[in-house]
Amino acid sequence: MVNSPDFIYKDQQYKTVFFETFGCQMNKLDAELSLGLLQEEGYRIVDNVNEADVILFNTCSVRQHAEDKVYSHLGSLKTLKKRHPDVIVGVLGCMAQKDGEAIFKRMPHVDLVCGTRMFSRLPELILKIRSHGSHVLAIDEDHIVNVKRAVTYRPNIHQAFVTVMRGCDNFCSYCIVPYVRGREVSRTITDIKEEVQALIANGCKEITLLGQNINSYGKGLQGAITLGDLLSELNDLGGLDRIKFVTSHPADMSRDIIRTISRLEKVCEHLHMPAQSGSDQILKRMRRGYTSTYYRELIQFAKELIPHLTVASDFIVGFPGETEKDFQETVKLMEDMRFQNCFIFKYSPRTGTKAAELEDDVPDEIKRARNIRLLELQKCISLEENKKIIGKNVQVLVEGASKSDPNRLSGRTKQNHIVVFNSPRNLVGRLVNVMIYEVTDLTLYGELKNSP
Ligand code: 5AD
Ligand code: SF4
Repeated sequence: MVNSPDFIYKDQQYKTVFFETFGCQMNKLDAELSLGLLQEEGYRIVDNVNEADVILFNTCSVRQHAEDKVYSHLGSLKTLKKRHPDVIVGVLGCMAQKDGEAIFKRMPHVDLVCGTRMFSRLPELILKIRSHGSHVLAIDEDHIVNVKRAVTYRPNIHQAFVTVMRGCDNFCSYCIVPYVRGREVSRTITDIKEEVQALIANGCKEITLLGQNINSYGKGLQGAITLGDLLSELNDLGGLDRIKFVTSHPADMSRDIIRTISRLEKVCEHLHMPAQSGSDQILKRMRRGYTSTYYRELIQFAKELIPHLTVASDFIVGFPGETEKDFQETVKLMEDMRFQNCFIFKYSPRTGTKAAELEDDVPDEIKRARNIRLLELQKCISLEENKKIIGKNVQVLVEGASKSDPNRLSGRTKQNHIVVFNSPRNLVGRLVNVMIYEVTDLTLYGELKNSP
């Protein structure tokens, strides 16, 4: 049915797609992969819903707020769908996986609900809706994501995200990820290398390896493969300048991996390793599998081996039962660790998780006050740390025009600082030296010294 010439002809009329992504980097990459597939099918990407034949949202369910935003966007499409019933509205990703059929009940004008492991079949699912004229639900949990990437489709020619593992087996008590993204599945080194080589051939200089729990990369693969092995192999590839990876889990980050990172010149000197809390009592209830002392010692070990290492963290405030004393322990951890930057979240109960069985007993105004307190503290620390760089030369991989001033260039150091500087010519994709003369908590400003 789907292949009838009559139908293919009809489908040629419906070839524009509007795509909006919420949530993490993995979602952004999945969006890229989906758009790559749709482009291969002849779709043109538009940035206005009114010009789209297909409207897709790649969603996040890590906090309630992220879901509310999507439902509100979907709600606002009701009139458009009434006027143009042929337009297909689809919900992809974590919220699709989690809410499934319930999305059709709440938003009957939605045509497609496509879970976290089914996006590689998007073109076919869209055709199915067109041919049958009915809702399509695709949330199969056993399906393994395997997308042959269109390397030419990515927002920036010099940088690319590469998924190396999907899912998470940790089941931290507050987290919905293991339920919506499923168990950990690692890609083979051969498969990843092939993709990275194709990216390099297409002009890519920096790759960021993605995994919900990247330190356990290799689990389930043949042989005792680790993240260290993968990084070593990628470090040997000619043409690549930098390798980054996220997100690290303190309990799965072995000292061996840290030793390996310290030896590999292309691997960035930066870890995003969320602590979530500084209180042992809360960490235990979060099922994080480490204590605050363990976390401190791990970072101390890493900083001894990698002297310029910077660390970023995530914290959740207002987890059930978090007292002022628990919170002060988080404040102390933040003061002591001198993070480069931190993401702070108010606890949001997620139905189905272990923590959702506990009473969400920290009032919202206290959550908000703790959130602001940590943000302000981190802002001071980031500024103090950045001030230490004034007068120094840093090596920058140039990413593009600065967002705040398109006449200047912007890039990042190996330690993940954002650097903005003037340049007489376009140096995008190049490694350059910049002397820093001014800083804020978020940005270093400098003067171009020389470009190798
Ligand atoms: N409530 C608030 N924040 C959460 N995170 C994960 N689950 C929740 C939740 N239920 C935060 C963690 C994680 C980041 C991606 O989101 O800090 O590291
Ligand atoms: Fe969620 Fe914990 Fe897995 Fe991270 S490690 S995705 S916080 S369950």
